Amino acid sequence: MKGIVLAGGLGTRLRPVTKVASKQLLPVYDKPLVYYPLSTLMLANIRDILLITAPNQLERFKDLLGDGREFGIKLSYRIQDNPSGIAESLILAEDFLNGSKSALILGDNLFHGSGLGRKLETFTNVNGAQIFGYHVQDPSPYGVATINEKNNVVALNEKPKNSDSKIAIPGLYFFDETASNRASRLEPSDRGELEILDLLKSYLEDVELNLEMLPRGTAWFDSGTFDDLHEAGTYVKLMQERTGERVGDPLEIAKFRGWVS
Ligand code: TTP
Repeated sequence: MKGIVLAGGLGTRLRPVTKVASKQLLPVYDKPLVYYPLSTLMLANIRDILLITAPNQLERFKDLLGDGREFGIKLSYRIQDNPSGIAESLILAEDFLNGSKSALILGDNLFHGSGLGRKLETFTNVNGAQIFGYHVQDPSPYGVATINEKNNVVALNEKPKNSDSKIAIPGLYFFDETASNRASRLEPSDRGELEILDLLKSYLEDVELNLEMLPRGTAWFDSGTFDDLHEAGTYVKLMQERTGERVGDPLEIAKFRGWVS
């Protein structure tokens, strides 16, 4: 399985900072935001990773992460000329994937929880698509899944105004080999984007979409706003101080896995 970190976008909710800096390079306590999604892929034992970014940010990501050797991984880069949707990443990654299964993580998503790496590792041989569910009080800013009593997805809705379901879909998706092909058949939505929910719907129609609730106690932050960034930073600071363990540190994970000495 190969990994994709999608780290483009405009970051309009973080203006004026994102006029000069990528959202995913902003600090979350003591690390750049992109370290956290990168760590999540590494914990899932994924070492061949493509980072997709906006044209004017590519050199900064390369300065920070290089070819990945420091972390015992192989990093490649692609540019997304315009933020034309999350699903476009699968098209941009097609030659990189070269027929592999993939794990796609959004560059502003932070996951942390006991046993999360071991859990995610079990999805690296996914059939169809695997997504996750996370209970939230207010689902209106998210993609939302409605499930039945057997935990099967019955509906997917983007940023619903009034939703009975409170299950948000975090920005981490595991796909089989068909994802790029499916993405290239999507039509842009009304807002002009290739929507990740439309890609998931294509799996849903084929009864190949699986959802699992993230284990209780898992922390998930989607760092799109200043408040989100602040809360995520506070969480990382508190966890590191209380437990004495690092949160989202690629170097520590690489050492733990024996990928670097
Ligand atoms: P969003 O938070 O939806 O978009 P954004 O980052 O541009 O921010 P804003 O809404 O404030 O303008 O994107 C979620 C993540 O996906 C984020 O890490 C950016 C990334 N992304 C891309 O890289 N390309 C895209 O085309 C889109 C839609 C998102």
